[in-house]
Amino acid sequence: MGKKDATLPETQTTQSLTALIEGLLVDEHILPAQRGLARNVGDLSDFFNRLKKPLPTSGKEHLYMSDPDLRAAYLAYFFPVNCVKTFLLLRRIASEGFLPPMSPTTPKTSTPPTTTATPWRILDFGCGPGSAALGTAFYLESHLNPHSAVAELYLVDQSATVLETAVRLLERSDLPLQIHAASRIPQEMDFDLILAFNVLNENTVEESQRIFTLLKNRLSPTGRLLVAEPALRETARRLIELRDQLLTDPDVALLWPCCHCANCQGILAENDWCHGTEVWERPDWIAQIDREIGSKKERLNYAALLYATKDSAGTASASGTNITSDTTWRVVSDPIIERGKRLLYLCGGPTGERIRATALERHLSEKNRDFFAARRYDLLRIEGTLEKKGDGFRLSPETTATLRRS
Ligand SMILES: C[S@@+](CC[C@H](N)C(=O)[O-])C[C@H]1O[C@@H](n2cnc3c(N)ncnc32)[C@H](O)[C@@H]1O
Repeated sequence: MGKKDATLPETQTTQSLTALIEGLLVDEHILPAQRGLARNVGDLSDFFNRLKKPLPTSGKEHLYMSDPDLRAAYLAYFFPVNCVKTFLLLRRIASEGFLPPMSPTTPKTSTPPTTTATPWRILDFGCGPGSAALGTAFYLESHLNPHSAVAELYLVDQSATVLETAVRLLERSDLPLQIHAASRIPQEMDFDLILAFNVLNENTVEESQRIFTLLKNRLSPTGRLLVAEPALRETARRLIELRDQLLTDPDVALLWPCCHCANCQGILAENDWCHGTEVWERPDWIAQIDREIGSKKERLNYAALLYATKDSAGTASASGTNITSDTTWRVVSDPIIERGKRLLYLCGGPTGERIRATALERHLSEKNRDFFAARRYDLLRIEGTLEKKGDGFRLSPETTATLRRS
């Protein structure tokens, strides 16, 4: 892929993103952390996790972004976390071939012809301080943008205060961006990438359906809509319900992470939920806050869905993973190691079901080695026997398991 991808090890890329964020937070006088910051992060975290009272609201909008202490807490903790999460999520989705194309264009007037990349037009809806926007801009700069095309970025949030913060942070990032900010989506404009991170759950079910409709109608013909929600039971299950309703939507198709177009009744009936995870190099100040509030952001969890217009979904799945392949499964659990065997929950396969798959350590072979290496949200192709065993399935040494990581 792009230039930095080829030269920088993965952790170094996230470290340079967290270094950029740290610099921005120092300029905002958020870091080094002041007394009381961790306590405010703890309060916000409790609000988000629905552990205490609900989020403070004016009736029209949540107020935590207007309160200077809570906004500072959001900036110190949730802003970096969601920014890096966006970056890693885009990298994962791109590695499976599902990001919109950025076709090189050759300006007609230039002699000799120079090639520039077509810039994306990006909408970050419910942008807050611009976490998802910054993660995306950094992704573009480090992976896709060898010719420094300036992405057009539209920030939308109901809080005027946080919009000001977002613009300031993004301008200071020095990433190649043309920044626009507004309380509403600009009229008559469509977008190559629409982000809606951690915003649907702050709205009623009806409002979030209305927001989804609004967003899907603004996709460019090859555009993508990436919705991410906290990986909590309540918020992730709400997203699954929305997903199931949208399976019959005439306008959009679900591209990722599902390898099937069946509904998730099973998960909902079992009171379960589905989420992905990314590993990052947690910066010191986040580790310090974690210690003070007894939290753990060692891994970045999310419940996310990627949509494309129905027209472009065929091309997307042809260039990416074959989503109808009956041998491809998404790993939807962490590996579980039990007396001499390894267990993974897999989703997809021929019927879109979720199965419990095991392999005995003593059956580890060249062919099934990848089953033993697979992690949550990896794609695993399984060919050959999956023998029914109790309420699950068993791989044999002859079963071929192939990870589909880029
Ligand atoms: C939890 S923050 C998420 C911020 C950012 N996207 C992130 O992931 O860090 C939710 C943001 O969505 C905004 N928001 C919630 N409902 C909204 C709506 N209906 N229209 C516009 N903004 C909304 C809030 O003002 C807040 O800034």
